[in-house]
Amino acid sequence: MLSDFMVTSSGNEPEELASRILANQVTAALLLDESLNIAYINAAAEILFSVSARVVSGQPIGQLLRCAAGSLESHLEMVLENHQPITEREVTVELVDGHAITVDCTLVPVTEEGRPTMILMELRQVDRQLRLSREEQLINQNSATRSLLRGLAHEIKNPLGGLRGAAQLLAMETEDEALHEYTEVIIKEVDRLGALVDSMLGSRKLPVKKPVNIHHLLERVASIIESDPGNSVELVRDYDPSIPDVTGDEDQLIQALLNIVRNAVQATEGKGRVLLQTRVLRQFTLANRRYRLVVQVNVEDNGPGIPEELQQAVFYPMVSSKAEGTGLGLSIAQSLINRHGGLIEFTSRPGKTVFTLYLPLELEQ
Ligand SMILES: Nc1ncnc2c1ncn2[C@@H]1O[C@H](COP(=O)(O)OP(=O)(O)OP(=O)(O)O)[C@@H](O)[C@H]1O
Ligand SMILES: [Mg+2]
Repeated sequence: MLSDFMVTSSGNEPEELASRILANQVTAALLLDESLNIAYINAAAEILFSVSARVVSGQPIGQLLRCAAGSLESHLEMVLENHQPITEREVTVELVDGHAITVDCTLVPVTEEGRPTMILMELRQVDRQLRLSREEQLINQNSATRSLLRGLAHEIKNPLGGLRGAAQLLAMETEDEALHEYTEVIIKEVDRLGALVDSMLGSRKLPVKKPVNIHHLLERVASIIESDPGNSVELVRDYDPSIPDVTGDEDQLIQALLNIVRNAVQATEGKGRVLLQTRVLRQFTLANRRYRLVVQVNVEDNGPGIPEELQQAVFYPMVSSKAEGTGLGLSIAQSLINRHGGLIEFTSRPGKTVFTLYLPLELEQ
């Protein structure tokens, strides 16, 4: 159904979609022409090689990286000759600045009329110090899924207006009361779908940033949780009172914190213990930028933990293990915190799940 949707919306959509996916994917990807010159390099590859696409376009691949004993060149020739993809694991490549990295490398021939005209080269870094790229991955993953969602939501919302109007006209034209029931069902379902799409999009409001006290926000969230008579959760505070104000949009930060704290409360079925902890970190690097000060908020619960099979996907929209869950809470929280230059991560095992929210305070000059 999704593919019907994509193909019918406009003529050159598949190519456009393919290049959007390539641009947004978290793996470094390059397209090489027959002479092994760089025809395209995506954002992840620009970061991996610390180069700009403008500078390296048209340059031979050998200018960007070197492999031991010319093995890269021989593999590239092999792909062009045999028209078969090759994956080489844990290859050490030397970058122009002399720095070496370890990557899993996949070379895929791109054929036109049965003849390979280009090679798609995908590099996945497997270095051990991968904390940074994992952070970037979380942010990229989020922005890629959200831009896809925005496109889909737009396409869904347009026909909904027409459907609703047509159902209302039909209701006015017909005298038969029994038929009114059907038109009401159409209108109700259209409205439900519209509301779902709106919540998938999250707030489209631009953040209105001003200095806010993180503890004030946490207390607002705590009072919302505590005002729910249905739960008897024990909320424990461990605040660092020396934390300076963060600059952010109060409503958006409360929304993000509430989504996380609510999950923690739900995980303990409203009966467990949830710890709200704040700390300040000095000289901390977030997604490749070094900050002098970063605020850390930990939300810890003693629930059963995130099911193993969900752990890789919890930040994706529509991922939920709850009967009534929309699966949007974490995706929206991540996107709101990303808009503040921050990041949400978690660790989870049975009995201890910690969601950590990082909010940058001051950029290192
Ligand atoms: N603290 C936690 N402990 C255990 N599992 C969690 C925790 N937080 C999130 N999860 C898991 O991650 C899933 C996704 O969370 P998310 O907030 O995005 O959606 P949801 O809570 O299912 O639905 P919604 O937030 O729309 O009500 C949850 O369904 C749950 O399985
Ligand atoms: Mg939730």
